[in-house]
Amino acid sequence: MVGLLSSLCLSLWSGLIALGFVSLYFLFVKHDPNTKDNKSLPHGSMGWPLLGETLAFLRPHKSTTMGSFLQQHCSRYGRVFKSHLFGSPTIVSCDHELSMFILQNEEKLFQCSYPKPILGILGEQCLLVVVGDVHKKLRSFALSFTNICKSRAEYLNSIDKLATSMMESWEGRNEVIMFCKEANKITFNLMVKQILSLEPEDPRTSILLKDFLTFMKGLVSLPLYVPGTSYAKAVKARARISSTVRAIMEERRKGGVGLVKGDFLDVLLSSRDINDKEKVGIVLDLLLAGYETTSTLLAMTVYFLGHAQKALKQLKEEHHGIRKEKQKGEPLNWEDYKKMEFTQNVINEALRCGNIVKFVHRKAIKDVNFKGYFIPSGWKVLPVFTAVNLNPSLHENASEFNPWRWASQETGKNVVPFGGGVRLCPGAELGKLEAAFFLHHLVLNYKWRTKGEDYPVAYPYVEFKRGLPLEIEPIETKLEEL
Ligand code: HEM
Repeated sequence: MVGLLSSLCLSLWSGLIALGFVSLYFLFVKHDPNTKDNKSLPHGSMGWPLLGETLAFLRPHKSTTMGSFLQQHCSRYGRVFKSHLFGSPTIVSCDHELSMFILQNEEKLFQCSYPKPILGILGEQCLLVVVGDVHKKLRSFALSFTNICKSRAEYLNSIDKLATSMMESWEGRNEVIMFCKEANKITFNLMVKQILSLEPEDPRTSILLKDFLTFMKGLVSLPLYVPGTSYAKAVKARARISSTVRAIMEERRKGGVGLVKGDFLDVLLSSRDINDKEKVGIVLDLLLAGYETTSTLLAMTVYFLGHAQKALKQLKEEHHGIRKEKQKGEPLNWEDYKKMEFTQNVINEALRCGNIVKFVHRKAIKDVNFKGYFIPSGWKVLPVFTAVNLNPSLHENASEFNPWRWASQETGKNVVPFGGGVRLCPGAELGKLEAAFFLHHLVLNYKWRTKGEDYPVAYPYVEFKRGLPLEIEPIETKLEEL
């Protein structure tokens, strides 16, 4: 979801250019910020005509930092400031309390508000953009998906199986692996297996992955529907993904509806509360939201551990302890996950330092006064999670990767990797579980080192600059021998 969330802003920016003079009219005539109660508006700058400060806001920076735009604006105007971004007058919140207030008041004072051009790609029914009762209804399916996964041994076994088979494929490759690509494959394969029962070797899996990559690329492109552009290709890729999913649905129906495969499609097909279009939409939402974010999380943990030998040592000890209590080759289960206390700290710290989702898009649907700030109805509001996660007054040595800080319960209260309120990420636990199981196999079987320098960049969607090339080396004592 992260890539998606963040890429939306790029698309909006592109949309802004496309809107041209129309925006100019709105900027100067309709949305003149001075027409509002300017006295109590937060300080800030509305930037250039038409562009506002969008370009500077989107300037790529290490995702382990706030970036120079936010840093400079916070020191000049304070942690809440006004700006003009993505074609709208905007309040940017780097303040923890205000950001939480925004998320907790979704649908009451604020509402999710993603850029219009993106709807052409995502579809009007996408969970990310729908509001009110439709959101509630569709979200309940996302929640049931994650609950079903967590309670099924088969899902846990799949993570184990995919992780070990990926590592087997590294054997004899005493070379460099492009870790982000590998992570993408494993998390995508896991999602299509759980949702549609597709195996990695099924040709439809690679067709879907290829279409998804085209789809994602379109999200960060200029939204012009001209044949050959990334945007047009993405719209077509979405249509192809939908028809692949539809074909799988039809095929399944022929076999009779019910618990045929035991996957999430069975659950969807058995429901009478939503139509076929919505069913296809939910499958797309889950695939989109669930694989890229988790894949970035895997890369993030591997990256930070590569620079934190003490944490890696403690992590290995924890996993050796868990493995010793199991039979040879026995897969991990939920109880094992619960024992992975230090692993959870490592993952949480990677989420805090790596900032997979930098911010989310909201708008005020009423005039709001909070802590002396006035937010006019209709203005865009951006809660910036990175600013909370890296705030030095909330976290000691905030830029340092320190999993031990999670021993204090306070830390968790001041970190926002998964949003909050009625849109809190329903896949948070699943993503962490996948990362934990993956790490189990990795730390027991391999040593790794980043080849050359690489780091995560917030474009603002987060990606490793070079795809995280790793030099890997098998550890003498193999997991199976323990
Ligand atoms: C592990 C890394 C992940 C991160 C950092 C992450 C982050 C987020 C964030 C910040 C949001 C809130 C968006 C907003 O408020 O506008 C969100 C929403 C969502 N996420 Fe995740 N996510 C992750 C994994 C997953 C997984 C594994 C799934 C599915 C299996 C998932 C499914 C969703 C869905 C369906 C939504 C929309 C919820 C709604 O609007 O009600 N996410 N995610």
